[in-house]
Amino acid sequence: MNDNRPIGVFDSGVGGLTVAKEIKRLLPHENIIYFGDTKHLPYGDKSKETITKFTTKITKFLIKENCKAVVVACNTATSNSIEEIRKAAKDTLLIDVISPVAKKVAYELHQKIGVIATKATVNSHAYQKYIRKYNRHLKVIELATPLLVPIIEEGFRNTPVSRHAIESYLSYKKFEDIDTIILGCTHYPLIEKEVNSVFQGRVKVVDSPLIVVNQLIHEMEKNNLLGNTPDPEYHFYLSDYTENFAKLAKQFFGKSIILEQKRL
Ligand code: DGL
Repeated sequence: MNDNRPIGVFDSGVGGLTVAKEIKRLLPHENIIYFGDTKHLPYGDKSKETITKFTTKITKFLIKENCKAVVVACNTATSNSIEEIRKAAKDTLLIDVISPVAKKVAYELHQKIGVIATKATVNSHAYQKYIRKYNRHLKVIELATPLLVPIIEEGFRNTPVSRHAIESYLSYKKFEDIDTIILGCTHYPLIEKEVNSVFQGRVKVVDSPLIVVNQLIHEMEKNNLLGNTPDPEYHFYLSDYTENFAKLAKQFFGKSIILEQKRL
């Protein structure tokens, strides 16, 4: 039996597209509904209460849209509001972006791991807590990099603006001897090349979207949720229309996507 209900994915903006794109690549017969909360972006400098209010609303919306699984494609939402989101999702399969990554890196051969993320994620120390749950001996250094989301949302990737900001953040003294870096915000895979060029191959950059989607596949298989839609639909809801989102969504998913403004 196949289940052709859509997979729901959400983030504050374009960041979750890095996860949605990986879902499309590894699960090409699944319908996807994406919610980008561009009206309330960035989440990273908001309070836990505010992040919880926005993200539980979105989760309830995706459940009403008949999603068989919800992927919280946002580290800030995961680190601040996952319990409340879980309640809102009721018994629908819920995948977050931190626990699968933490588990994976905890069991690999790393010693000192750097994490860059939004202020709200770093202040929650979610990566430290999740990783140390599996391996207490790892050193985890977290750094807030709040300029990166606006730079990405405003379309300034691969420009002197992004280069300066990335170089300046990554020159953080405590990052000097890290062997691994986690891009602890779903926006950041979009600047992965620029991060890599600063470290020049010296530091391993963790591929979080791949790890998260493998976890999703594993859980969907276990729960008999896999679909077989020959020509799947990709429906994008935005709480505020932005050119950059439309451009990137079309680049990743093709021109035939459905793009709709939706206020919750
Ligand atoms: N992409 C999100 C994350 O993973 C949120 C970024 C933001 O809105 O500040 O944290």
